[in-house]
Amino acid sequence: MKTDISSTKPAYLDFINQQLQVSQNLENNLLVIDLFAGCGGMALGFEAAGFQTAGYEMLEDACATYRHNLSGSCNQVILTLNTDFIKKADVIIGGPPCQPFSVSGHQKGLKDSRDGFPIFIDAVDRCRPQIAIFENVRGMLFRNKTYFEEIVLALRNLNYIVEWEILNAAHYGVPQRRERLFCVAHKGGWNWPKKTHFYSPYTAGEALGELAFLAPSNSKFLTAGMDQYISKYEKASKCVTPRDLHLNIPSRTVTCRNLSAPTGDMLRIRLPDGRRRRLTVREGARLQSFPDWFEFKGSEESQCNQIGNAVPPILARVIASSVKVYLESCKQPASIIAG
Ligand SMILES: C[S@@+](CC[C@H](N)C(=O)[O-])C[C@H]1O[C@@H](n2cnc3c(N)ncnc32)[C@H](O)[C@@H]1O
Repeated sequence: MKTDISSTKPAYLDFINQQLQVSQNLENNLLVIDLFAGCGGMALGFEAAGFQTAGYEMLEDACATYRHNLSGSCNQVILTLNTDFIKKADVIIGGPPCQPFSVSGHQKGLKDSRDGFPIFIDAVDRCRPQIAIFENVRGMLFRNKTYFEEIVLALRNLNYIVEWEILNAAHYGVPQRRERLFCVAHKGGWNWPKKTHFYSPYTAGEALGELAFLAPSNSKFLTAGMDQYISKYEKASKCVTPRDLHLNIPSRTVTCRNLSAPTGDMLRIRLPDGRRRRLTVREGARLQSFPDWFEFKGSEESQCNQIGNAVPPILARVIASSVKVYLESCKQPASIIAG
């Protein structure tokens, strides 16, 4: 069934600006606790859907970005099992640290000192929200399957129904083929958001517009040495098409590494004159569906990290809308809600 809006696809910037409008007055609205909040990509989607957010994040720059752009507060804190946070929340969302699970990480799961899941589960236990959602890399479902099952069991032991899906951001209007695992602990009646752009996704070219043909004065061009390294890398990884940004399709996944580090798989644009340059912070943000009014704080590297780590706000927005519908259904008598 075709559920997209291909025949009336609005210009990309109009689309994200329209979807991600945030009211300044959300104080009396349903409260979302946002754990491991980063710069607030997930929170932006929730605020745009009318929720009030309270973020918890350890990095100063990310907190500064959150506070500058969002209506909600962001507490700068290193989350532990003893962190004291607001207890009366309807929703908990979170992006517990994903280093243990990424393909390039060491995959130590619970034994990794950077692991955030015990903290996330403990917060759900203490707050007992109507719904809790975490996001992580898709690899968690495969290489860390046993650990993932432990997490699911822990949430089920708190009397939640637990469901998960790998969502591709491009199917929801993000110009990027970013696949991430979303896991939802709910009380019954949760429905995943319907794909809105499955047949007609936004392309990288539509997202970047004229930026893709410009060479700003601070452009970082690939050197001859980097060109050589990249071609060796592409040969070794049996890459059929060069990994430049292709403007006629959605981008490949935007990560901290491929935005900020000069590596073989970095995201780069080939200019009409043949030179290749790295993406700017704003271009990375556009591919992640941050509107141009959203300003990032900190050094360039810090901004790239905040962007690469974020849940694309447009994807967060559709999830938040499903949460809203779900919470409405929770208003029914408790007997109707499956335990
Ligand atoms: C994947 S990012 C979250 C992205 C966020 N959901 C968004 O959409 O922008 C994970 C964040 O967790 C933060 N973090 C990791 N361990 C933490 C801890 N113990 N306490 C607080 N923040 C932590 C990191 O600094 C990072 O910003």
